[in-house]
Amino acid sequence: MISQKLNDQITRIGPNTDAGAVHRRYWQPAALTDEMAPEITKLPVNLLGERLVLLRAQDGTLSLTARVASPDEAPTFHPAQEDLHPVEGAANYPVVEKNGIYFAYLGDGTPPAFPNFDCFRAPDSHVFAFKGLWECNWLQALEIGIDPGHASFLHRFLEDEDPEDGYGKQFRDNAADTNMPVTQVLREYPRPDIEVEETEFGLKITALRHMKGELTHVRVTNQIFPSAICIPMSREMIITQWHVPVDDENCYWFTMFTSFDQPVNKELMREQRLKEHSLPDYAPLKNKSNDYHYNPEEQKTQTYTGMGLDINVHDQWAVEGMGAIQDRTREHLGRGDAAIVRYRLMLRKAIKAVAAGQFDRLPMQDQDGTAQIVGPLSNDAMADSEDWQAASWQYDMTRRTACPWDASV
Ligand SMILES: [Fe+2]
Repeated sequence: MISQKLNDQITRIGPNTDAGAVHRRYWQPAALTDEMAPEITKLPVNLLGERLVLLRAQDGTLSLTARVASPDEAPTFHPAQEDLHPVEGAANYPVVEKNGIYFAYLGDGTPPAFPNFDCFRAPDSHVFAFKGLWECNWLQALEIGIDPGHASFLHRFLEDEDPEDGYGKQFRDNAADTNMPVTQVLREYPRPDIEVEETEFGLKITALRHMKGELTHVRVTNQIFPSAICIPMSREMIITQWHVPVDDENCYWFTMFTSFDQPVNKELMREQRLKEHSLPDYAPLKNKSNDYHYNPEEQKTQTYTGMGLDINVHDQWAVEGMGAIQDRTREHLGRGDAAIVRYRLMLRKAIKAVAAGQFDRLPMQDQDGTAQIVGPLSNDAMADSEDWQAASWQYDMTRRTACPWDASV
């Protein structure tokens, strides 16, 4: 439980806000490259409470700048290109493209270096990027991603299927080196022990599910400061996902799916996701207005939520259901929220450091050091209980050694 004042301080991100100042020290996903087809030279972008336009000059140079906007515009406003007008004399924010996403830097001074994470160093053929709108504050969207226990409930499947690598079925694979579906592990062991370590990029979160027969299921996920997570999706793929504030009450998730094995099938992955979203705003078709297609019959026999097999919809319902900005004056955090507690401490420390101009106290602000950061490791492994640390490391090294691009750490 925290005060309203503190909740406002850690959630609100507009210009001249405390958490906004922290976000402005980092590159932010602004748009997908898919949104800037060759005939498009102006794209509205709403980011960190600012109304902006992404511009492509004739020589191909990109920039992001303030645009003329009315105060009552929808957060996902999309007019014709000829109606988009940059504000004269406004600052130009730098923009760079990385594997399907345009990143922008809205802060002062020299932008920080990009870390050498897998999603950035993998070749374009091995990364697919997509985004989706969630109608809530960015922090609650991030916090579900650093809560390893939630999958045992929110994404609980009452029956196990033959594992297949289908859209939205992140947990429908077998647990490493066993014939036990991950769905069964999550369902039968819903209270993981959670270990949280601070790292040079944010947090490493280890969820341990101690099972029968001296076996432990180990799931390693990461928080990348300030708004991203990096988690395993399947044996060959990881997900790096930013929860980017549009304004205080809306956010986009931007995800880079990175493969350590075969090139990704971008057409198929795009097609699967476009079926669930409407353009141009990438709003999910299942949403609050249609009760997320909730089906009580399905809830009795198939899923915990009754909202289909797509885990993205479960997460969306859970975070939007808390309201536009979660009321943390009424929450009760417990042991399972260890990573959330630790993250908020990091954010508060960062807020203080930025206010004091001590930027080197924030993660990944040192140019040379940041460019050297690799990984992060994220995986699901099954291990003998006493030797889970070595098993988790070995699991990642095996796929990194066999990887067709340089994934060494
Ligand atoms: Fe989830």
